[in-house]
Amino acid sequence: MSKIAFITGATSGIGKACADKFAREGYDIIITGRRSDRLLQVKLELEKEYAIKVLTLCFDVRSREEVFKQVENLPVKWQDINILINNAGLALGKDLFDDADMDDWDTMMHTNVDGLLYVTRALLPLLKKTVHSHIINIGSVAGKEVYEAGNVYCASKFAVDAITKAMRIDLLKDGIKVTGIHPGAVETEFSIVRFKGDENKATAAYKGFTPLTAADIADTIYFTASLPPHVCINELVITCLQQAGTYYFFKQ
Ligand SMILES: NC(=O)c1ccc[n+]([C@@H]2O[C@H](COP(=O)([O-])OP(=O)(O)OC[C@H]3O[C@@H](n4cnc5c(N)ncnc54)[C@H](OP(=O)(O)O)[C@@H]3O)[C@@H](O)[C@H]2O)c1
Repeated sequence: MSKIAFITGATSGIGKACADKFAREGYDIIITGRRSDRLLQVKLELEKEYAIKVLTLCFDVRSREEVFKQVENLPVKWQDINILINNAGLALGKDLFDDADMDDWDTMMHTNVDGLLYVTRALLPLLKKTVHSHIINIGSVAGKEVYEAGNVYCASKFAVDAITKAMRIDLLKDGIKVTGIHPGAVETEFSIVRFKGDENKATAAYKGFTPLTAADIADTIYFTASLPPHVCINELVITCLQQAGTYYFFKQ
């Protein structure tokens, strides 16, 4: 029987790359996001390329009710979930604390923190039933060091880091692995979203250095998920060669 990976935010970037990587490795995949057309496109591509099945779930992780409804309605054959990748997330704006848009703050906290909590709690009863299950949370280097104008995005990712450590401790008794993955700059739609469609600002975010790709992160995530049952990577901080921490870059 195939293993199952549940990946949030798989319509783009790191989540989509994870869907591709786990499908290539023979996993059946549950992919989620708010854009149903993209979910369908990913499903068609993966099922054509690999001998696996894909289930799409279209919902907003910020809605606790919707998250629990989607999980409660999972078909029985999709309930033996081995891996949960909590990836859905975003930054909105990059403004000093006194200028930042407070609605953006709410959206980031609700998505990056509340969404991750809801999805994990909803899936935990299923993860506890599966032997050797694994929760992988996507944090950020922004959750390790605060940078100028990163304020609430950083706070949301510090929360992801704390929640990941707390889950690791509290789920020890259940034998569930918990891993925090903390990437530096990865070229995805992240900056387009952050700068609200401003292509110039988004492109400038990756200028002068070679950023990580979504596939780099997906490969690393797969590595943490493919270790022997008694080995758990608690956290990894991953940057490209030219980045050290949140604000030290060697740009050319
Ligand atoms: N790119 C980077 O430099 C970087 C660095 C460190 C950490 N990260 C983290 O990596 C994760 C993935 O980001 P990415 O770089 O791959 O960005 P991306 O290409 O913009 O992908 C973000 C994904 O999250 C989903 N999402 C956002 N809000 C959602 C919501 N309310 N409900 C459900 N799904 C939602 C999006 O799907 P829909 O729009 O279809 O809902 C999309 O699939 C995020 O947690 C981000 O903070 C990124």
